[in-house]
Amino acid sequence: MPAPDLETIVSLCKRRGFIFPAAELYGGFANTYDYGPLGVELKRNIRDAWWRAMVRERDDVVGLDAALITHPRVWVASGHVATFNDPLVDCKKCQQRWRLDHLLEGDYGPVKRDAAGNPLCPNDGGELTEPRQFNLMFKTQIGTVADDSAIAYLPPETAQGIFINFENVVNSMRRKLPFGIAQTRVSFRNEITPGKFVFRTLEFEQMEMEYFCFPPKDRENPAEYLELHQQWIAARLAWYRDTLGIEASRLRIRNHEKAELSHYSAGTADIEYLFPWGWGELEGIAARTDFDLTAHGNESGHPITYFDEETHQHVVPWVIEPAAGLTRTLAVTLLDAYTEEPDEKGEKRVVLKFRPNVAPVKIAVLPLSKNEALRPLARKIYDMLRTSWMTQYDETQSIGRRYRRQDEIGTPVCITVDFQSVGEGGNTGDDAVTLRDRDTQEQVRIPVANLMAALRERLPGC
Ligand code: GAP
Repeated sequence: MPAPDLETIVSLCKRRGFIFPAAELYGGFANTYDYGPLGVELKRNIRDAWWRAMVRERDDVVGLDAALITHPRVWVASGHVATFNDPLVDCKKCQQRWRLDHLLEGDYGPVKRDAAGNPLCPNDGGELTEPRQFNLMFKTQIGTVADDSAIAYLPPETAQGIFINFENVVNSMRRKLPFGIAQTRVSFRNEITPGKFVFRTLEFEQMEMEYFCFPPKDRENPAEYLELHQQWIAARLAWYRDTLGIEASRLRIRNHEKAELSHYSAGTADIEYLFPWGWGELEGIAARTDFDLTAHGNESGHPITYFDEETHQHVVPWVIEPAAGLTRTLAVTLLDAYTEEPDEKGEKRVVLKFRPNVAPVKIAVLPLSKNEALRPLARKIYDMLRTSWMTQYDETQSIGRRYRRQDEIGTPVCITVDFQSVGEGGNTGDDAVTLRDRDTQEQVRIPVANLMAALRERLPGC
């Protein structure tokens, strides 16, 4: 069972140190959030899992970390200065955003209207906000002179930093087509729609990869290129399901209608998740053709090409782009892991059933009580484990309440040190501890000498 509603997750996130509303001290700041000690670990783990799948485990993808603030002409070439400037309306009910001009032209299907003749949301007939001429890019100013020559933009996506470094990567890394360049980074969009927690925020992190391939033989019928697009769609869907453990029935692929396609795209498929409010985008996988490399070649006056050693010709590569939102994926990971079930007393037990690889805390070391006799062994185990795994030590409150707390933050394994471990009343201890499994609540006794091996088995990929 996933979280029943967003409020449940928002409250858990604040209570347990995952995510805090930003600047609460000053009354808050719309659509911005701060990541707390557990949120930052969760985010890092998801980012690492993506990097591992997209870069380390492949021999055809390399990484990049391009400057955030870059030449403003990059955003002219990419089309963002011109095309992020549309009359936008949002549905007050399902939050979907529409271009009003497209909507009135019937590009989204027959126009629905209310009694007063105002257009309604094509998706669910909800009321729409007033249209606004709106460029989603944040402007900033470099230097001390406040004129147009000093304007720069905060990046609304990571992709352009990759395109403008294409030649640098080919030349320095001796890359042959096909190959990809991956980047994870913060992006900024001046979002007008209330954000549904970290689903839509002003600043967010993206995980994007541009996969460059030979141009198709037939531009009008690029069969091999579309096949590559399909392969990436399948690979990315499998990553959410198999690596993050997201329930397959709450994931789906949605192909964009022609009218919806971004200015650069010959085809886009979204991976969507079934949020408490309905299906929503998690990742877009776009067939960007040669749009970006050609555009930067034209704008800069320096054509960006690849020398094909077989044909001895310069070609402009085509691109497939899997573009994921890290912070949105984090929201999905939380929602999907949330479980309520009765405990042995029939009371509600809340568990975040994270896969161990994403769990922010992997192990909790819990002496049975605050008794001095238990502390040395418990601290020794804690010191031994925390250099290998994110480990917490907690000796406050009853053991039952501490188990509940660890369940609620998704810790896969708890280790309990008790009097049997250390001995009492003149008896020597058995130098063994209890391992408790978060999901089954099963407890097994393990000698301290075997602890590392037992944990390695229980924490795959950590
Ligand atoms: N380079 C292509 C690109 O940026 P996109 O579909 O606009 O494509 C990719 O963004 C992903 O980034 C989305 O699927 C979503 O997960 C995430 N994303 C976009 N805008 C966001 C926002 N305002 N807040 C959080 N995540 C966002």
